[in-house]
Amino acid sequence: MSKTEIVTINEVGPRDGLQNQKVPVNTAGKLAMIHALVKAGVRHIEVSSFVSPRAVPQMADAAQVLEGLPAEDEMHYSVLVPNQKGYQRAKSAGAKSVAVVLSATEVMNQKNINMSLASSRTVCNSVISEAKEDGLESRGYISVAFSCPFEGPVEPGIILELAQEMLESGADEIIIADTIGAACPAEVSGLFRLLTERFGANTMENRFSAHFHDTRAMALSNVWAALQWGIRKFDSSIGGLGGCPFAPGASGNLATEDAVVMLHQCGYDTGIDIKGLMKAIEVSEKLIQHKLGGRMMPWLSSRKNI
Ligand code: COA
Ligand code: ZN
Repeated sequence: MSKTEIVTINEVGPRDGLQNQKVPVNTAGKLAMIHALVKAGVRHIEVSSFVSPRAVPQMADAAQVLEGLPAEDEMHYSVLVPNQKGYQRAKSAGAKSVAVVLSATEVMNQKNINMSLASSRTVCNSVISEAKEDGLESRGYISVAFSCPFEGPVEPGIILELAQEMLESGADEIIIADTIGAACPAEVSGLFRLLTERFGANTMENRFSAHFHDTRAMALSNVWAALQWGIRKFDSSIGGLGGCPFAPGASGNLATEDAVVMLHQCGYDTGIDIKGLMKAIEVSEKLIQHKLGGRMMPWLSSRKNI
């Protein structure tokens, strides 16, 4: 690398992380977590989801979370919306960026949002178009992009199709998500190669990002594989918090501190301060009442001068 390259971390702890936590975290707690992340230099945060409060009670206060967000310069806050109703709620609450979730398989769509793959495609693409008309940023998750807990391995062809549709509908970003943490670096490389061939290197760098879970301890190596294909934006979750309540086997996300340490050591800049992240982890641990930490936590905690 000739100059320091920027890699953007999109922190998903307050959404993907908390949605699976049994201990209810109140709005003030969520805002304390977000505040600590902002202080650590995180500039992209997925703060909540406008889903059914019956399906995910932890996300019932999405509108109040949006209302209380720290108004720091250059913050990019995003919220997840599963359907039209979620989009309308997010828009009324003042969201500037929405993320839709399209699972790559029939059964995963049914289990997650009670829709067929075909209806989910229609709904996601219409929300994306509407967001574009309304001047909101839109991001499209392609969930279970490598393997589905119900249907097994996913053919890359469907991922290319879904990504193309969402880009054509006007999505600003496509997030390739390994929701259950089943992918290995060779598979990640294989999919990003095909995506690069279809959409070009420039689109990969500017409009694609990746979301890995660390179920099989391969999240960091998957980040490395995606970096080689020009991906410069990654979702991660503080302390590895996370999992999807509707996808059996989805354990924690790639831990933000793991991603940041690896990226910095490899010469990339994330703008995130690791000490600040450790503080944000402490705040989050108090809220969810258990210990957090990714693969590097024992090493990080043993260092006095990180
Ligand atoms: N926000 C709040 N309430 C919603 C909603 C939304 N986005 N979408 C639907 N609802 C309400 C409806 O108004 C209706 O309420 P009522 O019974 O009081 O009239 C009820 O939920 C059922 O509506 P319906 O359209 O039949 O939804 P459903 O039961 O098929 O559930 C979802 C569909 C998408 C709302 C639900 O599955 C969901 O929220 N899933 C969340 C998935 C998730 O968060 N996954 C993890 C992240 S990927
Ligand atoms: Zn996830």
